[in-house]
Amino acid sequence: MKFLLTSLVALLLAPVTAALADEFAELTSKCDSCHGPQGVSMHSDMPTIGGQSADYIADSLRNYQVWGRPCIKSAYRHGDTSRPRTDMCKIAGGLSDEDISALADHYSNLPFVAANQEFDSATAAAGALLHEKHCESCHEEGGKTAGRGPVIAGQWVAYMKSALKFVPTGEHLVPPMMEKTVASFSAEDIEALMSFYASQQN
Ligand code: HEC
Ligand code: HEC
Repeated sequence: MKFLLTSLVALLLAPVTAALADEFAELTSKCDSCHGPQGVSMHSDMPTIGGQSADYIADSLRNYQVWGRPCIKSAYRHGDTSRPRTDMCKIAGGLSDEDISALADHYSNLPFVAANQEFDSATAAAGALLHEKHCESCHEEGGKTAGRGPVIAGQWVAYMKSALKFVPTGEHLVPPMMEKTVASFSAEDIEALMSFYASQQN
């Protein structure tokens, strides 16, 4: 009897579960049409999100919901590219708490694939030293593992540079320790750090 009831419930719920799965696939396909298949970006101004931590993805989406970070208008890169340009504040604004948890779960379980980008080996070595001293405490294992901060090793440099521009202006809130060091760095220091992150391609 118990078995019969469980099977009956499963049978009744199956179409609901399937419909929800379809809806979720449609949502991730929208994300992937900018961030790239499996959240791996092929465009230097678009961050890779596959393989970031669930906490970071969920926190970022909640920040965008309240305009807690700048939202750059962007064109779709894959699929129907004639869709009008949009931005993360608008996209996150349409997400429920359940969507956010499901998206964080989905993307954090995908591997982070480092971007294939050019870098200067000499400055990368200088960047490694700066990283160890000032950034490693939150961006662990040379930035390959999320700690208090996200994965930054192998992230697109053009995207990171544009994100860092909003740190000293207070438009993109980061921990005070990071804000202070980033603001005190010269353009050469930032270049060196970026070469180091770009050099991590395995
Ligand atoms: C129209 C293109 C577009 C679509 C669609 C899109 N994004 Fe984004 N997303 C961006 C851009 C551009 C940025 C970086 C610039 C910014 O912060 O505005 C970004 C940033 C992010 C970040 C922060 C990444 C980081 O390293 O800090 C997350 C997380 C994110 N998006 C998740 C999503 C999810 C989840 C979806 C689907 C629900 C989605 N995005 C849909 C363009 C898009
Ligand atoms: C005290 C911890 C801490 C330190 C130290 C720190 N960061 Fe961060 N970093 C963070 C956090 C937390 C975020 C995410 C902020 C948010 O919510 O958007 C972040 C975000 C970033 C981002 C944006 C990544 C993205 O995907 O949008 C970059 C780039 C970055 N950090 C580089 C650095 C560099 C370079 C240093 C060393 C000079 C550094 N950080 C030091 C905690 C830290």
